[in-house]
Amino acid sequence: MCGIVGYVGDEECAGLLVEGLRKLEYRGYDSAGVAVLGKKGLEVVRAKGKLSNLEARLGEHMPKGATGIGHTRWATHGKPSDENAHPHKYGGVAVVHNGIIENHLELKDELLKQGHKFSSETDTEIFAHLIHREIEKGLRLPEAVRSALKQVKGTYALAVMSEKFPEMLVVSKNASPLVVGLGDKCNFVASDVPAILAHTRDVIYLEEGDFAVITKGEVELTNANGEKLNRGVKRIDWTPTMAEKNGHKHFMHKEIHEQARALTDTIRGRANIEEGDVFLDGCRLDAKLVQRLTKVQIVACGTSWHASITGKLMIETLARIPVEVDLASEFRYRDPLVDDKTLCVAVSQSGETADTLGSFREAKSRGARGLAICNVVGSAIAREADDVLYTHAGPEIGVASTKAFTTQLAAFFLLAVRLGRLRGTLSVPDAQKHLEALFEVPMLVERVLKYEEQIKAAAYKFSNARDLLFLGRGPQYPVALEGALKLKEISYIHAEGYAAGEMKHGPIALIDENMPVMVLAPRDSTIDAGVNYEKILGNIQEVRARGGRVIAIHSEGDTQVPKLAEAAIPLPQTNPLLMPIISVIPTQLFSYHVADHRGTDVDQPRNLAKSVTVE
Ligand code: M6R
Repeated sequence: MCGIVGYVGDEECAGLLVEGLRKLEYRGYDSAGVAVLGKKGLEVVRAKGKLSNLEARLGEHMPKGATGIGHTRWATHGKPSDENAHPHKYGGVAVVHNGIIENHLELKDELLKQGHKFSSETDTEIFAHLIHREIEKGLRLPEAVRSALKQVKGTYALAVMSEKFPEMLVVSKNASPLVVGLGDKCNFVASDVPAILAHTRDVIYLEEGDFAVITKGEVELTNANGEKLNRGVKRIDWTPTMAEKNGHKHFMHKEIHEQARALTDTIRGRANIEEGDVFLDGCRLDAKLVQRLTKVQIVACGTSWHASITGKLMIETLARIPVEVDLASEFRYRDPLVDDKTLCVAVSQSGETADTLGSFREAKSRGARGLAICNVVGSAIAREADDVLYTHAGPEIGVASTKAFTTQLAAFFLLAVRLGRLRGTLSVPDAQKHLEALFEVPMLVERVLKYEEQIKAAAYKFSNARDLLFLGRGPQYPVALEGALKLKEISYIHAEGYAAGEMKHGPIALIDENMPVMVLAPRDSTIDAGVNYEKILGNIQEVRARGGRVIAIHSEGDTQVPKLAEAAIPLPQTNPLLMPIISVIPTQLFSYHVADHRGTDVDQPRNLAKSVTVE
């Protein structure tokens, strides 16, 4: 939620800031702005709407200077407008902020009484006023920011600059992400690594309460009490091109097509077929620890929650340990039954989702061991975990999650095999069979991507639908949920995912010729002796009997399902627990092509943001 970028060095920086903001636009895109300090003093240029509006404005007047901050906004306090866009400037101080200041109204009242005039409806502007007030009292910029931070309650990632203290940025973080980039005679700050990846791969991830004074030659890092810190420099192995579209029309399309590579990277070096076991770098789970466990508690939001429902099935099947899956936003407020015999697994692409982080902390405070399945290295959830299983999907820029989902499933499968081996519920030959199947998955993903034209044709055919129902049973139920989420978030078509067996308990009332139904109907004979397949055939018949139009996702070679469907998309077959990795892909491509055909903003759908760092 909201993207921050900052630069201090010798180069003209307005263009560089905009280029960084483009990489952060996924975090929020209702307005954007930059502040640059040069010979003419501190100049701020802001514009409501997409970054292109800011660029147009900068085309008319490009501020000159080599110290600057930029921001792309996802509104919390105050509607999207030029005035509410960041940076906020007051008395020669400019501020960009990501987070929420809870006591801003009290502070505003106090400042209004002292004669301050406000020009926006945001909570952020309060910072510019407070810092200016402290500078007027004679403090230097770093001390003024520190003093202002003591007065606010809430969450923030903050970057500040001042006319009185040129060639300096002061930054701090509390609950919102911030990373410092180390350049050659220049330094950077950003909400996320892609914003600065073109300039440096050496970064310092700031932790809660960290405070940094950044000049072109130095980064001075201290904690909330002013004590010096040495956080260590991390070398990022993402390349700048990984955060580009590489000829695809949208990031989402590129990311769908990257899944075979992302899965290979997630699996590589972690599974050994000969030994029938899995080696999870970053996880220190041993037999003693795992045999003590009485349950696994998973917390996640959105797509990561859907992956977690499949994760439950994988762990319960292979490791025979009870698993509960909770929406993180519900878990943290329900006095959960968690203790030191619980393994809490937090699943998050960004590793910054506020509810997931909050739940993870809650579970850990009750004694649970915390394992994170995360994509972003060094993110808050990863840092707070006892064990981390990174998904190696690479940067996911499209707001709609795709490769994060499939790599989370692969990570869960690895974890389930490992737990099964440690608990003794999975024999070496069985583990070998599962791992062989896992190794084949990237190749099967490539195969299903070849059906894109067929999927696109189906998408165009149904792109005028007002509603759409997704049905699946067993391992395909979470895929139905995920398919529906994808369609609604990028095409704005109302969609519901349902367990197919539940259809007759309500949703069947909705079915008529105006309600297309996408049915996930692969054959999965091993897990349930074909029961799911037989039952879903029955569900398809029930839909047809009520005039419903069926889009079927079926196994290659199946002759029954395609006969019952208006559009049919074949899939290669695999181990049923791994089938969701394959079967979700047609649902991703279907949603993508529906949305693209309808002309919506696929990568940046309305009202959404990539990382939800507010509750
Ligand atoms: O970064 P996280 O995995 O924690 O994000 C969780 C959700 O916000 C995210 O999956 C969201 O639902 C996506 N827009 C789905 O495409």
